[in-house]
Amino acid sequence: MTTTPPAAREKGTIFGLALRAVRLHLGLDQKALAARLGVSFSTLKAWESGRRPPPGSARTLLRLLRQEGLLPLPAEVLDAIPAMILWRGADGSVRFRNRAFAARMPGAMANRRPDAAGPVPPVAWSERRFPDGSLLQIGIETSDRLRFLEFFRNMRSGAAICTAIDGGSDFIITDLNTAGEQIGRADRSVIGRRLSEAFPGSEPFGLLQVMGDVWRTGRPASIPDRYYRDERFEGWRECYVYKLTTGEVVVVFTDVSERVAATRARRQSELRVRTLLDASRDEILLLSKTGVILAINEAARVRLERRTGGVDPLGAKFDQVLPAGAARSRLAVLHDVVTTAKVAHFEEQIRQRWFEFWFVPVGQPGRSVEEVALYAREITERKRTEEQLRQSQKLQAIGQLTGGIAHDFNNLLAIIVGNLQLLQERLSGSNDVKDLLADAVWSAKRGAELTHRLLAFARRQALNPEVVNLNNAVRNMTQLLRRTLGAGIEVRERLAPDLAHALVDPGELERALINLALNARDAMPGGGVLTIATRNVILGAAAAAALEETEPGDYTLLEVIDTGTGMTTDVVKKAFEPFFTTKDVGEGSGLGLSMVYGFAKQSGGHVLLESTPEHGTTVKLFLPRAANVSDRKRTAAASIAWGSGRCRGRAVLVVEDEAKLRKVAVTMLRQLGCEVVGVGTAAAALAHCAAAGPIDVLFTDIELPGGMNGIELAARLRTQRPDIAVIYATGHATEAISAKPDDAAVLAKPYAWDELAHAIAGVLGARTDEGRATEERPLR
Ligand SMILES: Nc1ncnc2c1ncn2[C@@H]1O[C@H](COP(=O)(O)OP(=O)(O)OP(=O)(O)O)[C@@H](O)[C@H]1O
Ligand SMILES: [Mg+2]
Repeated sequence: MTTTPPAAREKGTIFGLALRAVRLHLGLDQKALAARLGVSFSTLKAWESGRRPPPGSARTLLRLLRQEGLLPLPAEVLDAIPAMILWRGADGSVRFRNRAFAARMPGAMANRRPDAAGPVPPVAWSERRFPDGSLLQIGIETSDRLRFLEFFRNMRSGAAICTAIDGGSDFIITDLNTAGEQIGRADRSVIGRRLSEAFPGSEPFGLLQVMGDVWRTGRPASIPDRYYRDERFEGWRECYVYKLTTGEVVVVFTDVSERVAATRARRQSELRVRTLLDASRDEILLLSKTGVILAINEAARVRLERRTGGVDPLGAKFDQVLPAGAARSRLAVLHDVVTTAKVAHFEEQIRQRWFEFWFVPVGQPGRSVEEVALYAREITERKRTEEQLRQSQKLQAIGQLTGGIAHDFNNLLAIIVGNLQLLQERLSGSNDVKDLLADAVWSAKRGAELTHRLLAFARRQALNPEVVNLNNAVRNMTQLLRRTLGAGIEVRERLAPDLAHALVDPGELERALINLALNARDAMPGGGVLTIATRNVILGAAAAAALEETEPGDYTLLEVIDTGTGMTTDVVKKAFEPFFTTKDVGEGSGLGLSMVYGFAKQSGGHVLLESTPEHGTTVKLFLPRAANVSDRKRTAAASIAWGSGRCRGRAVLVVEDEAKLRKVAVTMLRQLGCEVVGVGTAAAALAHCAAAGPIDVLFTDIELPGGMNGIELAARLRTQRPDIAVIYATGHATEAISAKPDDAAVLAKPYAWDELAHAIAGVLGARTDEGRATEERPLR
């Protein structure tokens, strides 16, 4: 249509107008004129409505006009034509103008022929020059046509006008606007072509089908975002299809690729955020400022649905999904956050569980808060760990304090016990005096036991871990326990036959067992059953994490179970603290469990209390397993008689910086028959060896002044004389003790003379009777 020059384009219109004027002049209706012209009624209708007539039709009309004697057309006919008609002679003078022309171009204008793009409304002119040089000009107003043409051309959407062929299964493109050329990656050469050929993707796109339907039914239809593809281009398109009264079908189409991509990107990013939110175990909600739930993650939904009985909490108000009290306090916080625009953070205990809440204002800084994000996280586990940590830090702090005091006391007690015992040996006086001395020794030993427990609690005990068969240790103990606990208490064993060996200090283990048994006895004043059980356990990562400072792994478990009074949770909480006792003054020092605790921890294990009032108590002692060690007999000192010959004449060097204690040790060793020299520092010891020659036994304190400790001293002397026997004395465990040689003995201060005698005999025995199995060490 638009390829046709304007003049020619108007021909159809002019022909139509002329035809109508002639028909009216002849007083015919459309049917009658159609019959006179020998064309069909619908053809005539189309001509009159301006459809361009086929070639030859003008001639048909002329023939009719001639028959009717209407040529040249009478002025009435020409005046009835609404088009402007002007006929000029060869000299340019006006021969005729019709009424329409006179109306549109009055006065001076009448002689001028305006341009097609002339005054508004514009006029499209067509003209014909006759052989005599005269010129016929016919003009019709084109304002609407041009307006719509411009509109069509400048639309941002693509538009194509098509005519149905093959019964509506395909279409001929009759016009295409500029946007259509761009969106369709085509130029105007597609006009006149089949749609299926010019745009081969139309068929799979569904366009042909939809256009066919629209053409048949006259009902407009749209194709929402759909993907178009052919060999030239592809992209997302949206179409609207409708039918014109001319029977043509119009397709208006837009390129929505960017919008689709943006929508997809937005959906993708929404999905990402949603996935992130739902993956969180924290509960996350978005609230309106009045407390309506606007968004919610999976964790929050699950919990709230439990409250609402499965009803979707989205869109509900806070007080519809929370208990009244909780809703009130949350809404108060929400209100604060909305008014202050500040984050609110608090922790709250809800029944047995702890939660942490964050209310975060959402929106631009400086603007009023319309929405608030709420994060809720369960922190019960963290709270428990924090509590445990506090508890163990408290115990450690107390441990440091008591450990320091106990260490000093130890040295003092060592001197007192040693001197008292030497006095006992030398005194041959009355029995009264001996009794007095015995009391003093008993009390000093009791004091030593207390400091020992304190040191144990402070984990500053000098431990001698050995591979121990716990079942044997228990069996050895139960005899003693039956005697000690009395007839009212039945002692039972429940020992796992496949029990792995533990790596613990057997002496300390015995002490711990005795402490536990005595506690059980005190809790069963009316009698009861004490069960000592053993079994292998494996602590997984989670189980180990629940016990403070405990590594996951294999343990042997020693349980001491009583049927006594049990403990309240308050007592359980404090039971390990030193000096915590519920017993009467003088009956309990409150150090028994402290010792057990310190021993277990220092051994690399753990101890747990399980107790319910009236239902007895179970103490669980987790002890580290001895890895890959067969049941090796412990090399322990044989009991030797006081002053027995084994030590006689042996050269012993005593190194101890505390002069009084040194004197006690020297005196004791002389009693044993040794040749003893005492010095105060490592340097003095080295000097003595250099001057006086070889020694048999080095008996040295571990901590020494002057920069070299006892272990380093022993190592130095052994480079010269590898067979020197070594005994260390120590008030408490130190870093250095782990570096001690295997065959050295460790004596805990304060040591009684018999312990010193065992140690000397032990190291000398190990030197002289290497490999000879000796009997088990007796109970301390
Ligand atoms: N088996 C048990 N049954 C009931 N309560 C116990 C048991 N073991 C310990 N307790 C409680 O724990 C407290 C602390 O025990 P711990 O052994 O540390 O000190 P003690 O027994 O009071 O004194 P000590 O052991 O120094 O003589 C006890 O006073 C008692 O209240
Ligand atoms: Mg006790």
